[in-house]
Amino acid sequence: MKVVNSWNDFDPLKHCIVGRADNCCIAPSEPASKVKVPLDSPMRGMTGPRPLDTVEKANAQLDNLVKVLEGRGVKVDRPDALQWNQAVVTPHFMTGSMFGCMPPRDVLLTIGRDIICTSMSFRSRFFEHYAYSRVLRKYFEQDPEFRWIYSPRPELGDASFDLHYFDGDVTEETLLERTAKKYFVSTEHEILFDAADVLRLGKDLFVQHGSTTNLKAMEWLRRMYPDMRVHAVNFPGDPYPIHIDATFVPLRPGLIINNPERPLPKEQRKIFEANDWEIVEAAKSAHTEPPPLCYSSVWLSMNLLVLDHKTVIVEESEVYQQEQLDKLGFEVIPVPFRDAYPFGGGLHCATADVYREGTCQDYFPNQVDDPTLITYENRAW
Ligand code: ALA
Repeated sequence: MKVVNSWNDFDPLKHCIVGRADNCCIAPSEPASKVKVPLDSPMRGMTGPRPLDTVEKANAQLDNLVKVLEGRGVKVDRPDALQWNQAVVTPHFMTGSMFGCMPPRDVLLTIGRDIICTSMSFRSRFFEHYAYSRVLRKYFEQDPEFRWIYSPRPELGDASFDLHYFDGDVTEETLLERTAKKYFVSTEHEILFDAADVLRLGKDLFVQHGSTTNLKAMEWLRRMYPDMRVHAVNFPGDPYPIHIDATFVPLRPGLIINNPERPLPKEQRKIFEANDWEIVEAAKSAHTEPPPLCYSSVWLSMNLLVLDHKTVIVEESEVYQQEQLDKLGFEVIPVPFRDAYPFGGGLHCATADVYREGTCQDYFPNQVDDPTLITYENRAW
């Protein structure tokens, strides 16, 4: 039986994983998470299990999402929450607690018949993949073609991060200057990446170079998938470049929405322009602030889940994003989801693809002089 197949974020979705908020913790500060938590966030310095009432509210919205998906004929699996409030000790680091399993998209990368449990760049997320072992074992037993892959397990020791990144007076302007120069907290010591930095478009993978994903990870993907093309993209307007899915979001073949505060630089657009892809600015969020104790920005408004080329699930209060999608010809399904945001993201983050119809298409047959293309010869590490 074929269980695992997905080459992009827009072909008809038939089977996915939806996360759970149980036992989720605000993890202790560590080199990579200092970038994740905005400088002015009240979460700075907080740690420990999240309040039970917030867990229950988030789970209610996650359960409702499952119902909506099942109502649309999508099969849903759920992870098994571990007791996340346990220390992690490895030969290379120690940290006081783990994180959670609300955002499976961060951890699991589906490429065709493969699901990769990605390296991850937060120490608190080193063991998060175990929440998915039961479902991945099941896919392995049922689908003779499914390949269950672990990308290299990182050390996440001191050499993996610039430990002086936050020395002195670091402001948002400082961070913006650094991200424009592609100077991030993670180093090129080893292969580091989170699944949510990888945008899959058939034969092409567009990978955000930022705080959670480095160039060596892109070279690893290139070697794993020699028939595919791997591209490094970056978005200089984002002071906290972590995960691509509130920045650059494909809606259907030929159409992407881009966060207007984080435009893809001109020279990186060539490959899209040469292949008639339209990059439109995403509508603004209906909110000026994320919900309390949330790591993410208001741009979770564009962190939507595409069910097929004509249908999309959007957070119910994000009226501007809904209006834009309506104008672009989509049926919009609104669902409440803001109570789940603090646990690690929006509708796209909260899901991971298991099966979408469709095959590996070449959406970029016209090759141009493309500065984003990863080659070993042009490596910058
Ligand atoms: N990095 C993404 C944002 O908060 C999730 O915008």
